[in-house]
Amino acid sequence: MIRIERAVLLIGSAKREGESTSEALGSYLMARLSTLGVETTTFAVHRALRTPARTAALLETVDICDVFVLAFPLYVDTLPCLATRALETIAAHRNLTPSVRKPWFLAIANCGFPEAGHNDVALTICEQFAIAAKMRWAGGLALGAGGAVNGGAIRARGMTHNVARALDLTAAALAADQPAPADAITLMRKPLMPERLYTFMGNLGWHRMAQVNGVWRRLGNRPFTISNQSL
Ligand SMILES: Cc1cc2nc3c(=O)[nH]c(=O)nc-3n(C[C@H](O)[C@H](O)[C@H](O)COP(=O)(O)O)c2cc1C
Repeated sequence: MIRIERAVLLIGSAKREGESTSEALGSYLMARLSTLGVETTTFAVHRALRTPARTAALLETVDICDVFVLAFPLYVDTLPCLATRALETIAAHRNLTPSVRKPWFLAIANCGFPEAGHNDVALTICEQFAIAAKMRWAGGLALGAGGAVNGGAIRARGMTHNVARALDLTAAALAADQPAPADAITLMRKPLMPERLYTFMGNLGWHRMAQVNGVWRRLGNRPFTISNQSL
């Protein structure tokens, strides 16, 4: 068992600070690790990759960490482009620069659809990254209905109680040089609310957004419909 001293969080969402579910999940985990005596550093992927100097800072920090966490939103069934680029850059760097450290790599994915299973392919890609980057796979935590969190705080009571518990268990395991426990993975996948309530709220939000943008009457438009004649 090695002493876990430093953890790095990379936020894979391009949303502004304080607005993404990825940040809410990742920050909660970092706060828990911090209370367990682990020093934490956070990067946002769009800022970290903006200049070579910032990218170098990310690579250097990951080089000396014991736990590397990527928290990201699901985009079209996979990782956002910048998150993929960051992982490719880190893997290439670690293969060029042999390091004695073999940090844990934990991935936290959240998606807009209610079912957590939509994240599974992306998390398998993350597991492949762990192998390519010579890290230890700590597991993938998958959250569905991420829009219900919408960047809000993760709390031990109410809608996010299972999420908080999953992250508490994961932090305790990582701090003890262990991967995310099976219970944490199962708890994170539990629905935040009944699926019908989530889709009802989502529809309400969609109509409200259309009203605000003055296009509510045009919601049924199909500008790209291909007529039978042109087939
Ligand atoms: C370009 C784009 C593609 C998306 N693709 C998917 C998808 O394939 N499946 C899904 O369930 N949600 C999808 N979503 C929804 C996001 O995963 C969801 O809103 C998530 O909670 C955003 O997380 P964040 O706040 O951390 O950015 C997509 C969102 C965007 C903007």
